[in-house]
Amino acid sequence: MAIDQTLTIRRPDDWHVHLRDGAVLAGVTPYTARQFARAIVMPNLSPPVTSVEAARAYRERVLAAVPEGMDFTPLMTCYLTDSIRADEVARGHAEGVFTAAKLYPAHATTGSAHGVTDIANIMPVLERMAAIGMPLLVHGEVTDHNVDIFDREAVFIERTLAPLVARLPELRVVFEHITTRQAVEFVESAGDNVGSTITPQHLHINRNAMLVGGIRPHAYCLPVAKREERQLAQPKAATSGSAKYFLGTDSAPHAVSAKESACGCAGLFNAPFALESYAAVFEEEGALDKFEAFASENGPRFYRLPLNEGTVTLDRAELEVPATIDANGTPIVPFHAGETLRWKLRA
Ligand code: DOR
Ligand code: ZN
Repeated sequence: MAIDQTLTIRRPDDWHVHLRDGAVLAGVTPYTARQFARAIVMPNLSPPVTSVEAARAYRERVLAAVPEGMDFTPLMTCYLTDSIRADEVARGHAEGVFTAAKLYPAHATTGSAHGVTDIANIMPVLERMAAIGMPLLVHGEVTDHNVDIFDREAVFIERTLAPLVARLPELRVVFEHITTRQAVEFVESAGDNVGSTITPQHLHINRNAMLVGGIRPHAYCLPVAKREERQLAQPKAATSGSAKYFLGTDSAPHAVSAKESACGCAGLFNAPFALESYAAVFEEEGALDKFEAFASENGPRFYRLPLNEGTVTLDRAELEVPATIDANGTPIVPFHAGETLRWKLRA
């Protein structure tokens, strides 16, 4: 890898993205397809993607939203519910439709109302996934009203994730979008079957970004950004060179009007400049030599998929992030809006 005025790495993938549906799907997918060769596409649509047929149809709609001439492969996921059948999940995996299945604790986040109310309800599904080597992607937050929102990830580890990994030691688990020192410690202590995605926002911001100088809805996502002492574990982990961490943007677009509201939606739209955002963190940490592994190697190795052929190049150049982006008629505020980033993905 050459580091200087340019940064060239193997083509990367995004192991966690929300592409939505309908008009917004067509508006946001080109940004992801421009940056990444493949992406794990989240199933929290309305209604959620809970069957092989729904995932096949959604995959077709995603592919239809990829601009001509761009080579992009969406990897689909199955939304786990209390009543989903192990046979359906396993069939989808065997047929190459479901790359993985996603566990949303019910009401933990946007689009999780049909999620799992008690992990005991899906134990037969998880046992089957462990047997066939199908990855479980976990939104790791408890929904207990008595638990402070800033503690929900750490408590989830204690109450749910650690016992699950102990009970099914073969299960391949991606602890998604980690935000705390406790999550990093858990991932470090677990076996190679446990990996983790880290978002650009959880590398860059702590909770001050949301709350200082006024309430800033565009910095609000779930899991919510934490206090600095917990958040700083994320850049250290991502740039450590450990194969357990890989790129997953959790790009989660919402219309400006849905964010700037008395009850604003959770989610940041970081897809347009994701690589530039990550590169800034690796540079600040003096770890640009570790960027390629995080962005392009650790993920496919965890998922047991081939590494991409080809490369992408970032140039050292000023990149002005626009205040809003028009996603096929829906205005969305991107992460870093109004800031200048110092790397720019070559067209
Ligand atoms: O902030 C978030 N937004 N976190 C999630 O888990 C879901 C996502 C969304 O779909 O908007
Ligand atoms: Zn997500």
